[in-house]
Amino acid sequence: MADDDRLVSPEPADDREDSVEKSLRPQTLAQYIGQAPIKHELRVYIQAAKQREESLDHVLLYGPPGLGKTTLALVIANEMGVQIRTTSGPAIEKPGDLVALLNELQPGDILFIDEIHRLPKVVEEMLYSAMEDFYIDIVVGQGPTAHPVHFPLPPFTLIGATTRAGLLSAPLRDRFGIVEHMAYYDADDLEDIVVRSAEIFQTPIAPAGAKAIALRSRGTPRIANRLLKRIRDFAEVSPDHDTIDPVIVDHALTLLRVDSAGLDPIDIKLLTTMIDYYNGGPVGLNTLAANIGEETETVAAMYEPYLLQRGFLKRTAQGRVVTPAGYEHLGRPYPQQN
Ligand SMILES: Nc1ncnc2c1ncn2[C@@H]1O[C@H](COP(=O)(O)OP(=O)(O)O)[C@@H](O)[C@H]1O
Ligand SMILES: [Mg+2]
Repeated sequence: MADDDRLVSPEPADDREDSVEKSLRPQTLAQYIGQAPIKHELRVYIQAAKQREESLDHVLLYGPPGLGKTTLALVIANEMGVQIRTTSGPAIEKPGDLVALLNELQPGDILFIDEIHRLPKVVEEMLYSAMEDFYIDIVVGQGPTAHPVHFPLPPFTLIGATTRAGLLSAPLRDRFGIVEHMAYYDADDLEDIVVRSAEIFQTPIAPAGAKAIALRSRGTPRIANRLLKRIRDFAEVSPDHDTIDPVIVDHALTLLRVDSAGLDPIDIKLLTTMIDYYNGGPVGLNTLAANIGEETETVAAMYEPYLLQRGFLKRTAQGRVVTPAGYEHLGRPYPQQN
């Protein structure tokens, strides 16, 4: 199964989902649900920057996909009352691309670079002086006519987002004054997100229905919204359900093969493979990936984080291990240790 087809993939499925997401995006910190410590800090920094009439310090947001990094960048721009230019690491191929982007910024504006860990090295190195002292030095022309040009920039804020903070070089990471780690959302926050999205969709939903969706959303707003959208279809065509309640949620998600903890068939296969062939582990990540026919990187980025956070899987020095909670969730007896 391709990741794109995976109902519980934390990545956006396609352009259509992208446009639905836009309609669901909170605009202000007050509308942004959960992540209380991050919001609290940002409120202070935003207010202080505004009082001093300075640009906000550079911000690095890291955490798994679908947790609201892009949304938060847009919220920050809105709260600061500045323009935001959005791009991504792989899209900035050469120094000239970066110069063009920086050249368009007004004082105080935000440049948002998604997947910042994928910036080409030469571009990253240009960012150092841009971030620190608001200038870049570029070489114009070629051969004998080549000469360096010192290019001053307006004070601006760089917001970088990454799913893999560990892949960022130390010099780049150190130039962010504000570094925020986005955490998975708890069920209460996800329930609020589902209720808010249902309101925007004008779909009637019972509180218990929202809670049932929240519990199966892997701590991830993007997945909560996607499940809501699918379940809404089931509710609309069902003769006896116009409101989304736990019965229709369970009916739809059983058909869609999302289990009571939000695990899909690939997650289950991963855990059962470990149990059936490796006595629950330890198993190395590469071996595990090969066994279930996925790329190691995919398992590391898309499957493992949620299983770890749910406590179904544990990392040890020897490899991954299925926990007692993992056995219990699958209804398997935990083997006697000796
Ligand atoms: N804190 C939040 N409150 C409400 N909705 C949120 C929140 N965080 C994310 N979302 C919703 O989840 C979707 C995915 O968020 P996004 O910012 O694109 O995630 P990321 O950039 O981390 O992959 C957005 O459409 C947004 O509506
Ligand atoms: Mg994003």
